[in-house]
Amino acid sequence: MSIIEKAVDKLRSDDPSASKKDQQPVDAAGNSRYLKTDQHSLHQEALAPTPPSPATEQSKTQQPKTGLEPDSSAQREELIESEPPAAKPPDVEIMALNLDGIMTKDAHRSRQAEEMRMIKRPILQSAFGKKHKPSEHSNLLMVTSAIAGEGKTFTSLNLALSIAAEMDRTVLIVDSDLAKPGLSRLLTIGSRPGLSDYLRDEEKDIGKLLLRTDIPKLTVLPAGSRHAHSTELLASNRMKQLFHELAVRYPDRIVIFDSPPLLVTSEASVLASFIGQIVLVVESGKTAQHLVKDALAQLGSTENVSLILNKCKKGFLSTQMGSYGYGYGYGYGSESDQKQ
Ligand SMILES: Nc1ncnc2c1ncn2[C@@H]1O[C@H](COP(=O)(O)OP(=O)(O)OP(=O)(O)O)[C@@H](O)[C@H]1O
Ligand SMILES: [Mg+2]
Repeated sequence: MSIIEKAVDKLRSDDPSASKKDQQPVDAAGNSRYLKTDQHSLHQEALAPTPPSPATEQSKTQQPKTGLEPDSSAQREELIESEPPAAKPPDVEIMALNLDGIMTKDAHRSRQAEEMRMIKRPILQSAFGKKHKPSEHSNLLMVTSAIAGEGKTFTSLNLALSIAAEMDRTVLIVDSDLAKPGLSRLLTIGSRPGLSDYLRDEEKDIGKLLLRTDIPKLTVLPAGSRHAHSTELLASNRMKQLFHELAVRYPDRIVIFDSPPLLVTSEASVLASFIGQIVLVVESGKTAQHLVKDALAQLGSTENVSLILNKCKKGFLSTQMGSYGYGYGYGYGSESDQKQ
């Protein structure tokens, strides 16, 4: 044994961490975490760096490099070749659900898709245009209506799909109708933990509740488990902090809240007070004018309120509705349009 080999042996026997290979963090397959190089494990470490143990720190400062450390680049390259990272399937497969009237990839030229484009343009302009201020939460959008069944969930999801098709925008759609979680039901994620669980449990991490979809730039937050006091949950300080976090952390992301109706519960008014933009869906030919007026009165200021006239049989309308900002028609269209 040469002097150098003896010195290396001695250093190894002096260092308690060197002989305890099985104390290193390992992945599910039993590989040392330091050896893993796929994006997922690197990302995990970047998110939650493991504090170095005193032994590791000591070895970093005192040990000379022997070239035998587990993270040597030669071994890392070998691992890259032998273990290609497995692609994780999305949590929600919206396309496979084949939902009636919900815009699929093939529907991009339909009249419905064109109407959605007209609707989303001013919304995106208000959210990200020159005049927008992140502090005003202009990238948070609430979809509500005066009464139940006017098409809030349908509009929220189609709008989300349309915005996710934009080059440089990502979308988070939140089922904030905690009492009647129509979006979670539609996407078959009603049993998954979500917003209400986050609001009830200080330990919950919002990142772990977000579900990836098969639409690359669309993420969903389910409503979560039922709770008798949903208004109180939505009015809580934790919800206020969440709104702020969602608005400022990813400034190029739009967050759509599929919300309860204004005249049926108090939850929608609570939500509205934290949101930068509000879309009021009005069911054409059904919702009485006085109900729309009452709903607008509940919102107080109408500066950031847009109206969408939904289920409009006469086709697309683009009308100013009094002094209440934008007016849109968003219709069923003709039979042939619906089939597209
Ligand atoms: N523009 C539209 N074209 C075709 N169908 C629509 C349209 N808007 C809504 N619908 C249909 O109308 C029904 C009610 O819509 P939706 O569930 O979106 O209403 P909602 O306002 O979310 O109801 P709730 O108040 O119960 O949450 C659904 O069956 C939906 O598919
Ligand atoms: Mg709904």
